[in-house]
Amino acid sequence: MPPASAALQLNKIELSRPAFGGILCRLMQQVNLGMIGGGTVGSGVFHALQQNGNLMAARLGVKLAFRKVAVKAIDEPRPYPITKSLLTTDWQEVVNDPDIHVVIELVGGTGIARTMILSALSKGKTVVTANKALLSAHGPELFAAAARSGANLYYEASVCGGIPIIKSLREGFVANQFSAIYGIVNGTCNYILSRMKQEGAEFADVLADAQKQGYAETPPDLDIDGFDAQHKIGILASLAHGFWVDHHQIHTEGIREISRLDMQFAQQLGYNIKLLGIVKQVGGKKAGIQVSVYPTLIPNSHVLASVNGVFNACFVRGDVVGDTLFYGRGAGKDATASAVLSDVADAALDLRNGGKVRVAPFIAHASKGRVLPMDEIVSRYYVRLSVVDRPGVLAKISAIFAQSKIGISSVIQPEGHEGESVPLILMLHDAPNAAMKKALAKISKLPAVKGKPVMLRVESFT
Ligand code: NDP
Ligand code: HSE
Repeated sequence: MPPASAALQLNKIELSRPAFGGILCRLMQQVNLGMIGGGTVGSGVFHALQQNGNLMAARLGVKLAFRKVAVKAIDEPRPYPITKSLLTTDWQEVVNDPDIHVVIELVGGTGIARTMILSALSKGKTVVTANKALLSAHGPELFAAAARSGANLYYEASVCGGIPIIKSLREGFVANQFSAIYGIVNGTCNYILSRMKQEGAEFADVLADAQKQGYAETPPDLDIDGFDAQHKIGILASLAHGFWVDHHQIHTEGIREISRLDMQFAQQLGYNIKLLGIVKQVGGKKAGIQVSVYPTLIPNSHVLASVNGVFNACFVRGDVVGDTLFYGRGAGKDATASAVLSDVADAALDLRNGGKVRVAPFIAHASKGRVLPMDEIVSRYYVRLSVVDRPGVLAKISAIFAQSKIGISSVIQPEGHEGESVPLILMLHDAPNAAMKKALAKISKLPAVKGKPVMLRVESFT
């Protein structure tokens, strides 16, 4: 790369030209890219750069050019074609090529991808990744390796697909402390829940569709069981609060247990059910942050209740800025490519400016921080029981909740025949999770209560 002083000269030439002409193109610096992974996201990145590379060059004053793309099998069909002469099956060719300045890792997983990134960083190359699973498992190690090598590790595409949430937290909101972040951060789950609700579609059919569209992880259990959202919300929590949140500390529940029956009752009560990631500052004697992922009843009046399909949204509350909302496609080849290329642009500008970053991709700025155990978290609840319709059942259930100091705010019991099992839906006031767990354990032992109670939390966004 030419030194920074040459870059400044180039800027002067650029400013003196009225238009982005041919001569300027020849004078412009070029940043060479190597990509490992050319699947859904990788082929999307290649396609987007073909489509808008000239526009990016005009905006950045740096031309971006692919040198090599490593894949597993050259002839594998790809969502978008990648120029065959660039393809290799040896990822080390990408990492070891001295002409490649930026390595984009789009393989996924926590195995070989870690070796690829560490290897690229050790050679002083800037790395761009979309790999939230890897960041969640090995973030501190990877950021430490980046710091050692003086290179950067960018990861915009790892959270919320095309939404620039990482950059917003890192740069746009640098003047804020964050009291709450609420995120619909998994496109696959939101797609499944939305279609189940809107069309009465079956879980398995919608999941197969999400896989066809390239939204789901491999395996999709990472999405369905909430772990992909856990990885993402952990990254957001770490960035917002300045200490690394270990994924083991994040209470995580997925959407497997959500039935259409619960969606219908939630609707009747004025709520929608979404898989919600929550990062919330909790004050008082037991101060700390809540970091969790679980299916949540969201009031229909709240903007997050109408985020549907593969769309993601992040509601960020800063002490200076107030409430803000980000919305966009959370998965898929094109939206994710947009985020990857925004990191590539930052990396290219760092290189052009002699390696100087404006705000580092991740800095642990707080020495201490406490993630609260789920038992200490206070919330409201929706409970669905299957009970035998006979006198005294509701009184017994109410008494158990009362002993645990949990108040009932509303009850629905569809009319049935005496002696038969019917659903009983209870909305409960604020209570700690530990108290709720104990009460439900007692209730589920009552002879009139059949099957496992369904318990979902209700968010008030206060
Ligand atoms: P894909 O499975 O579609 O692509 C993976 C790519 O990696 C394929 O091109 C595959 O090659 C290649 N690959 C696998 N092993 C190797 C290897 N040893 N050497 C070289 N190449 C290899 O995954 P996605 O594109 O969906 O996901 C990539 C990353 O992006 C993941 O971390 C994912 O979590 C993340 N992500 C995905 C989103 C999405 O919507 N899909 C959105 C946001 C992030 P081949 O093509 O030959 O099989
Ligand atoms: N599987 C992920 C999702 C991809 O559905 O959100 C985007 O990170």
